[in-house]
Amino acid sequence: MPVTDSLRVQGATPGTDSVAIDFQGRAIRGRRGETLAAALTAAGERDLRETKAGERRGLFCGMGVCQECLVEIDGRGNQRACMTKLDRPCSVRRQSHLASTVDLPPPTHQPVEDGDVLTPNVLVLGGGAGGLNAAATAARAGARVLLVDERPQPGGQYYKQPLHPARHSALPDDAQFAGGRALIAEAEAAGVVFLRGAQLWGAFEPLELMIFDGQASRLCRPQRLIVAAGAYERGVPFPGWTLPGVMTTGAAQTLLRSYAVLAGRRVLVAGNGPLNLQVALELARAGAEIAAVIELAGRPGVSAAAALLKMLTSTPGLAMRGRAYLAEVKRRGIPLLHRHVIASVERAGDRLRAQVTPWPAADGDASTRSYEVDTVCVGYGFMPSNEILRALGCRHAFDAERGHLVTERDGDGLTSVAHVYAVGDCTGLGGAPAAEVEGIIAGLAAARSLGLAPAAGQEQAVARARRQLRRHRRFQSGLWELFRAPRLLTELASPETMICRCEEVTLAEIESGFDPGTQSVGAVKRATRAGMGRCQGRYCGPVLAALAASRRGLSLDEAAHWAPRPPVKPIRIADIVGS
Ligand SMILES: Cc1cc2nc3c(=O)[nH]c(=O)nc-3n(C[C@H](O)[C@H](O)[C@H](O)COP(=O)(O)OP(=O)(O)OC[C@H]3O[C@@H](n4cnc5c(N)ncnc54)[C@H](O)[C@@H]3O)c2cc1C
Ligand code: FES
Repeated sequence: MPVTDSLRVQGATPGTDSVAIDFQGRAIRGRRGETLAAALTAAGERDLRETKAGERRGLFCGMGVCQECLVEIDGRGNQRACMTKLDRPCSVRRQSHLASTVDLPPPTHQPVEDGDVLTPNVLVLGGGAGGLNAAATAARAGARVLLVDERPQPGGQYYKQPLHPARHSALPDDAQFAGGRALIAEAEAAGVVFLRGAQLWGAFEPLELMIFDGQASRLCRPQRLIVAAGAYERGVPFPGWTLPGVMTTGAAQTLLRSYAVLAGRRVLVAGNGPLNLQVALELARAGAEIAAVIELAGRPGVSAAAALLKMLTSTPGLAMRGRAYLAEVKRRGIPLLHRHVIASVERAGDRLRAQVTPWPAADGDASTRSYEVDTVCVGYGFMPSNEILRALGCRHAFDAERGHLVTERDGDGLTSVAHVYAVGDCTGLGGAPAAEVEGIIAGLAAARSLGLAPAAGQEQAVARARRQLRRHRRFQSGLWELFRAPRLLTELASPETMICRCEEVTLAEIESGFDPGTQSVGAVKRATRAGMGRCQGRYCGPVLAALAASRRGLSLDEAAHWAPRPPVKPIRIADIVGS
């Protein structure tokens, strides 16, 4: 049921090339170049697939990780609406548990041939802040660089670009858009070859990578690999988190910043960390009503002085930006509740009703607040996308403070595996400014290791990058002291809450799936199928690993997590074998 006729931001390019979509018999007009998810959201269609149990699911991560937005396009199932670029009229059907296998189009590509192997000097995985800088730097030093990214446009998460050039966009051109634009232009000018909309799905030792370029799977044998695969949002399960209309803060940001589409007219934003505040303001500036921002961390008090000082003395510009965000939240009258969480979300007619409670709840505290909204955005921080690195055997250590694995690297970004470098958030969530300078450092190191000499000014750029990196790391540590909060696992879940979204496994089923003898995460997977779904355990895996480790009294080291196996992201057999 559509929630509203159009969620497009006013002022978008007049006369934009439109594309006809038939969605379940309803005629919708999308914009050429935007994703199918953006067009459907703009038209108020948010129920995109149906699970085995008959539940509806919709756009959740918005970045190709969760697989909740799978639809059938022209009879071809398992297509991620958030990653599908609209380039022709199409007929779209809600996907049921098993995609239909009828009416598949004839094969459109040729088998991979021997001569088809990609052999760049440097392969860069990821076109975000880290990858673009690494690629541009290595290319300027003379390397033949191939950059692969599964998104239709480069820029990654921080530098995601608007569909239309800034002067035609419905959104004001800001420093993030302009910075990304300049970086992409710099990489192009340096001679980097971009493989857009291409997914790296397999990594095999010593250095063989499989890439699906949208037409065929190609083997890539680079001399050096720089992984800059970024991060995805951490899943914190609570009753109602699988309902269509509940999505990650990042998904709402992508809809808005890339496609000028509002995730909803009235939106509740909740979780932990600065991105929630930023996205709430971006939505408000674009015309959405923000019901409230719910923050798990406490209100910064006197004890925050040290963290603030750390931020001010390391990167004063970013610290002042944070202050400006808070002032704008106040000026706009957006309620900001600290030490609160969303306890549950349920359907309320065409809308959603969210219950918000203090956390931790004090004894006898009954101060639950209820919000009726059409969209709930949730962001509890990130998890590094380190599957490719782990598949290649790069060593990782568990960082108890940060709650995730961190890639072991030397000062140049070289991992424990020869010729494999890693930069940015995939190594341990350092933020965009750190990803940028790590990219410069690793890009030149990779080029040098190939015997190439730095171009004019590159030595100085790397020396500057090393100084900046120290400052950015100091800033980041101050920032997270400011937003320090308990790391929630299943505390908000009820026994009926889905922990594994893909395989529909509840908390109660997982609890009873633990074998009393071994308490192992592998056993619970075999007993319940949790982790065997299409997201390949990216959302439920960290929760299960933490539950198992705490039951066994062990630390959450690399062995406590499931080993990544190819394909690291789902891909059709036909696209692997090229038939
Ligand atoms: C959803 C989201 C929104 C964010 N928004 C902000 C923000 O507004 N402000 C802010 O300060 N920070 C934001 N962050 C954090 C910020 O994006 C990062 O700190 C910064 O982008 C890190 O840069 P990076 O190069 O490491 O990764 P990214 O910028 O995330 O780039 C990684 C790229 O790798 C690609 N990729 C990953 N795996 C594959 C694969 N197997 N095949 C092909 N391509 C692949 C992805 O498509 C992506 O484009 C956000 C993070 C997320 C996850
Ligand atoms: S949530 Fe996707 S496999 Fe469990």
